[in-house]
Amino acid sequence: MRAVDLIRKKRDCGELSREEIDFLVSGYTGGEIPDYQMAAGLMAIWIRGLNRAEIAALTEVMLHSGEVLSHSEIPGKKVDKHSTESMENKTSLILAPIVAAGGLTVPMISGRGLGHTGGTLDKLEAIPGFNVNLSTAEFQRVLRECRMGLIGQTAEIAPADKKIYALRDVTSTVENVGLICASIMSKKLAEGIDALVLDVKTGSGAFMKKEEDSVRLAEVMVETGKRMGKKVVALITDMDQPLGNMIGNALEVVEVVDVLRGAGPQDLRELCLELAGWMLHLGGVAATVADGQQQSAQLISSGAALEKFRRMVELQGGDVRAIDDTKKLPQAKLSMPVKSATAGRVMAMQCEQIGTACVILGGGRERKEDSVDPAVGIVLHKRVGDRVDAGEPLVTIYYNDESKAQRARNLLEQSCEIGVAPPAKRPLVHRIIGETGDKH
Ligand code: URA
Repeated sequence: MRAVDLIRKKRDCGELSREEIDFLVSGYTGGEIPDYQMAAGLMAIWIRGLNRAEIAALTEVMLHSGEVLSHSEIPGKKVDKHSTESMENKTSLILAPIVAAGGLTVPMISGRGLGHTGGTLDKLEAIPGFNVNLSTAEFQRVLRECRMGLIGQTAEIAPADKKIYALRDVTSTVENVGLICASIMSKKLAEGIDALVLDVKTGSGAFMKKEEDSVRLAEVMVETGKRMGKKVVALITDMDQPLGNMIGNALEVVEVVDVLRGAGPQDLRELCLELAGWMLHLGGVAATVADGQQQSAQLISSGAALEKFRRMVELQGGDVRAIDDTKKLPQAKLSMPVKSATAGRVMAMQCEQIGTACVILGGGRERKEDSVDPAVGIVLHKRVGDRVDAGEPLVTIYYNDESKAQRARNLLEQSCEIGVAPPAKRPLVHRIIGETGDKH
């Protein structure tokens, strides 16, 4: 087999066999196929697409490019959730303790933020001492002790995805349903889970702006997971504005702890109860999703979910005093409000610009090697549809560097659109692509 023949085959709309996909992926991961050939192959795939059989084959090959964890010594079902937009990954820090307190095991392997998106690992590292780099054996010890653990992708987990994703990032071949599905599902299935809840975003701030594209991605991921014998459901959820009110690593930990204490913003709490309800249902400890939601609310109000989070922080080396008193988390030295120039209603909020403003402050990274400032961020005072007076603060910027704050402020001033008539309220959950294959 030769890579050049496979590139030509895909370029000319052919279907790649499992052996051919294996040849390309293994050859690239092993260093025999060079970047330029893989880049051409990825672009041919991006333009011509992959059919369902090709997506299944690509996912399996990438999954088996590394270690597939097994937690057979830990009793009960293992479940996880994945949000297609990493700007929404604070939900992971709320869901994992609820579901672990509900009796299931949550072995979460997460990523770091790049571009306008934030990463779960960066938020966790805002907790002094927290270690996301556990070996597989240490990870399993944490899971045995508290049924949840959160670590970064190791060199052993889906190494093919790690290498291919880095190439996709710089060759403009990310936004393709088949490639996204194989990338996400290969990593999630390597966690050794029985069930997976997918939170697929739709709206102006999402990867997939149009609902039909989000639905297609969700359907393909659900089908791929089921084909591998897993229980999978996808919720198509709204992303026309940021979830919750806080953006920034330590600030989001504050919001996570608020929700686990029974407070926090309504939209974040509501989405977490919905997703946790599904996780408990798919994991078999709740008869229905409604039952799972009730259990989740109860696990929050009893303090069991917060206690679980606290225990996980302790086991992974974090300072639990910063959870008991979130003022002990890193704090920015300075703050400034961004005020509305006119009176009216908030018509729209540009999630991507708000995320980018946080990166400019130092809360995210523009290049992989950048370090992040855990203390900086943005607090939103208004939601889409809210009334605002001229001169009233729309957001507050928390910062450590004056010139970065000015740049972030310029962007934030453009990111909230003020108008007259409030826009129609959008539902938080648009559709469910279901466990039974039904759409509701
Ligand atoms: N996140 C991933 O892990 N992979 C993709 O392809 C897109 C988003």
